[in-house]
Amino acid sequence: MRIVFFDSGVGGLTVMRDACRKLPSESYLYYADTLNVPYGTHSKEEVYGFVADCIDDILSRYEVRAIIIACNTATSVAVDDLRKRYSFPIIGMEPAVKPALQVVRESGRRVLATATPLTLKEDKFRRLLGKLEEPSRVDTLGLPGLVRFAEDGTFDGPEVREYLREQFAPFDLERYGAIVLGCTHFVFFKDAIRELIPVHMLVMDGNAGTVKQMMRVLELEESSGQVSEPDIVYMSSLGTEEDKRKLESCFRRLP
Ligand code: DGL
Repeated sequence: MRIVFFDSGVGGLTVMRDACRKLPSESYLYYADTLNVPYGTHSKEEVYGFVADCIDDILSRYEVRAIIIACNTATSVAVDDLRKRYSFPIIGMEPAVKPALQVVRESGRRVLATATPLTLKEDKFRRLLGKLEEPSRVDTLGLPGLVRFAEDGTFDGPEVREYLREQFAPFDLERYGAIVLGCTHFVFFKDAIRELIPVHMLVMDGNAGTVKQMMRVLELEESSGQVSEPDIVYMSSLGTEEDKRKLESCFRRLP
């Protein structure tokens, strides 16, 4: 039985990498819906259909121990229904807005929450803001361009920096204490983002929290055993060998 990490594309690899570091001896399966990426600019109904088809595809071939929806967008539209449909554990992700607000509380600074346009307009995100003590200190920014760059294998460079500069331009970043990366694809751009924001700003994502939750649900302890090659099967909705190689090499390039 495998622990499955699912995303529209390469973003969820960053979450699986964190899981592999803590649990190098588990068996993993990474599934990317490369046929339909990007999710963030589709409708909620379309994304729900994509996710359901992919999970059917996985279940037709593998026994699943748990599925980690390593995608904030898919989580926001599908996680509640998926949990009703399947008996194995389904772990989702959410933008780390709550911990970010806690971190900036003392300074009185603001939080900039970035995600895909679909995540930002979903009820789940509104409910998340509604539970916060000071939601008015959170501003949002959709960065769908970063998903395209990541899928093209462009993780830094002049085009990426130009795009980010343009997107950040309307914000006076000196007033912000943290930026939340509410899309797993954005994690690839952490270094580029860090260089474009004031030094006092923290860059926060939900990866560590998701892996912690996965370990809690599956009752797994961090293992210290050295395994040089984690056992990972790569799958994609396109199903080509080239696609699988792309995922594998992207995973290997992660720091
Ligand atoms: N990686 C995704 C997320 O965390 C989705 C990106 C996309 O397909 O638009 O939201």
